[in-house]
Amino acid sequence: MTITKAVIPVAGLGTRFLPATLAVSKVMIPIVDRPSIHYAIEELHQAGITEVIFIISPDQKSIKDYFQPRPDIETLLQNRGETELLKNIRSIQNLVSINFVTQKSPLGLGHAILQSKKLIGDQAFAVLLPDDLIFGNESTTSEMIKIFYQNPGIILAAKKVKDEMISKLGIIDPLNINGNQIHVKSVIEKPDLENAPSNIAIIGRYILPKEIFAKLESIQPGALGEIQLTDAIDSLMTELPCVAYQFTSDHFDIGTPVGLVKASVYQSLTREHMSEDVSSWIKTIPLLNED
Ligand code: UTP
Repeated sequence: MTITKAVIPVAGLGTRFLPATLAVSKVMIPIVDRPSIHYAIEELHQAGITEVIFIISPDQKSIKDYFQPRPDIETLLQNRGETELLKNIRSIQNLVSINFVTQKSPLGLGHAILQSKKLIGDQAFAVLLPDDLIFGNESTTSEMIKIFYQNPGIILAAKKVKDEMISKLGIIDPLNINGNQIHVKSVIEKPDLENAPSNIAIIGRYILPKEIFAKLESIQPGALGEIQLTDAIDSLMTELPCVAYQFTSDHFDIGTPVGLVKASVYQSLTREHMSEDVSSWIKTIPLLNED
């Protein structure tokens, strides 16, 4: 079975980016010159995904604009000879086919994923949370799909986190660790530090079998009163094996302002036309050089 479909849920409230999110969706805030969903689509395309389903809230219709052709701007850029910019804006439109499903209220990540059931149909699929930005030579989703083909079941991306992050994330209880792959016994959403089974957290990439939908339909609200994807995965683990993949690429949690700043600096240092300027400026920032 080939994995060709992916879900990108973006219907959360984005409270950590207030007041900006009063007027703009968190996923449209740019990292250098493109929003997080642009990087997300590129990662999925590199993984062979051909169909992406966005889960949006009722007031996020403007996200659709990002994928609409803009003949007026294209003509303008063509007339100005801005071929590089023209290539950039056209590239994202043709990478994958895109559908939108509305989540009427933000009842949790699990509830958001459930909204994609009809469009996913009878097959395994990928989930990518654009708050977790991963920069690397190979797409992390692609690496996880390869693991899925060897071990059909549930595949999670994972990373060791600091103690203060544990009560904010889904945490893995490992059965055994084999290189960068962990066979998972159970997962728990937002545990207290003293009850946490490890310091290994689930990061926003999942390969999920179709059986997840039945679990999402039957579980009760969990942490924060939301339908939690982690709870549905934990329940499914009694029937199917689960592997957590400790990826090695650079990861930024851009669901927080500090993560967004770090990702923006990192990304700017990879861009040929700005890296020198940014890196020499960083060394001279007055605030860093005060006694
Ligand atoms: P988070 O809870 O981490 O982010 O959801 P948030 O709700 O967007 O932002 P804060 O916490 O208020 O700052 C993780 C992912 O799940 C999506 C979010 O959009 C984000 O991509 N999500 C969450 C939904 O699509 N629907 C929901 O009901 C909840």
